[in-house]
Order: sequence, then structure tokens, then C-alpha cells
Amino acid sequence: MRALIPAAGYGTRFLPATKAVPKELLPIGDRPALQWIVEEALGAGAEEVVVVTSPDKPALKDYFTPSAVWRARLADKPAALAKMEQLDALASRVRFVEQAEQRGLGHAVLQAAGLFAQEREPVLILLGDALVSGAESCSAEMLRLSRERGGASVVGLERVARERVSRYGIAAVEAAPDEGRTYRLTGLVEKPAPAEAPSDLAVAGRYLLSPRIFGLLAEVPPGYGGEIQLTDAIQRLIGSVPVYGYRYPGRRHDIGDPAGYREALLRFEAVAAGGRGASEGTIC
Ligand code: G1P
Repeated sequence: MRALIPAAGYGTRFLPATKAVPKELLPIGDRPALQWIVEEALGAGAEEVVVVTSPDKPALKDYFTPSAVWRARLADKPAALAKMEQLDALASRVRFVEQAEQRGLGHAVLQAAGLFAQEREPVLILLGDALVSGAESCSAEMLRLSRERGGASVVGLERVARERVSRYGIAAVEAAPDEGRTYRLTGLVEKPAPAEAPSDLAVAGRYLLSPRIFGLLAEVPPGYGGEIQLTDAIQRLIGSVPVYGYRYPGRRHDIGDPAGYREALLRFEAVAAGGRGASEGTIC
């Protein structure tokens, strides 16, 4: 299984800080948000992670490029050197693709299509501005569910207040059979008005999708906001293969927004320190 992290957005909700630091590199505990997400993907079993970024954000690639200068600088500081060596080991499993124009989340995912052309397994997609905390790993749980259902596609879901549905992709579902966490998806709509939303189940930044998604993305016309939407391609996928929703028992933190970032800081600092509260802060 391989993973893909779209991380090309400009972070406009977090300006002016994001003029200096891309939102994916804002620190959460002792490491940038993007590193937590890469670790989540590798921890769930991904062999490789492809990050889609913008040519205007070279810092992402710089961060995941091993540095001989840093190694030399830390030669007599073994603890710090060990951290950099761990980062270099992660970096060897991360590659980058650029999205030259900002034409939507679906368009960002499509930029990596060439790297997934031979893919047979579902592709794990983790949004670069969404950290997920909970007792279990959300990506690993989604992968388990997918395997139980013969390699089916799975979308991570969370309940949101009705008045907030127009900020998210919202799922239409069949009734949940197993304690209300797993649903068969019958449709998906991007940012509906509350009166038109098929449910209060929002797409929460984690997807495990059949590689057919790339072909569908190449076909879908621009949707909400005039952008190529991943949601619209998943809607088409639902028409051809079973797609499930998994409502995970943890929480999503939108680090592209100052309030979500503060929340993530509180949740993940305990994990980074390995101290009290770490068990409930295990990253999904
Ligand atoms: C994206 C997706 C949306 C999803 C949301 C949160 O929207 O298009 O379906 O619900 O992420 O994960 P964005 O926040 O980029 O506008």
C-alpha cells in the first residue's frame, strides 16, 4: 500500500504566519504537522508516501531532504543526531510531486496519477492539514476495514453540527450495521447547504481509495468553487465499486486554522513528550 498527502494549499486562513511557514510545517510538539501525518501513513503500513506540494512551498521538500551539514553539526550531540537520523530514515520513503496551479483538491491528487499508474491496492490519502487523534490509528483502522471487505474503498467520516455541513464533503449512507461506525456510502456531495445535506457525516481528511480514482479525477468537470473536487470523483467511484464510510472514534484537528492548530497542539504535545495523556493522544 502506498500513501498520498495533498499539501499544496496556501494556508490563507492562517496568514500572515503561513507567509513564513507553510501550514504543514507548523510545529506540533517537537515536529512539524506533516511529519506526524507521514508517520501515521508509514505506521499504518504504507511503503512509500507521495506528497503533492506547490512550487511556492519548497520548504516541505527541504525538510524531507537528508542534510550532511546537519549531521556534521551534530556530530558531538548524539541525542540530537539520533533525531535527525530518524528523520532521514523517514525522508527516504517520501517523494514529492508539484501542483503548479491551484485547481482544487482533486486536481492536486491527480498530479500524482503517474506515480500510481501500476497501483493495484487502494491508495491511502491523508490531507496535509488534518491531524487525527484517538486511541487507535484511524488510517490503520480504515485499512483493516478495507481488508475485511475484500479491498474495498473506505472514507473517514466524522459527525458535524448541521449548521457546519457546508464546510465539508457530506456522505449519503445506508444504515450502519455495526454499532454505528461503518456505513455503506450511497453518495457524496461537496459543501452542501444545510437544507440539502444528505446527513451530518462529514469527510474527515482520510481516504483509502481504489486506484480507479485517478481515471475518474481525469474525467470529472470542475465542481464546487469551480475546482476539481475529490468528492465528485468518489461520487462516481461509488457507482462502480463498494465504498464504505468509517466514523472513527477519535478527533480531527484542522491545523490550517488557528483554533484547530491550538487544539492539535494541546492534544499532540503529550504524545510527543510520551508523558501523561499520551495513550489518549495516539495519532490516528
Ligand atoms: C476538503 C474536502 C472536503 C473535506 C474537508 C475536510 O475540503 O474537499 O470534502 O470534508 O477537506 O477534511 P477543504 O477543507 O480543502 O475545503
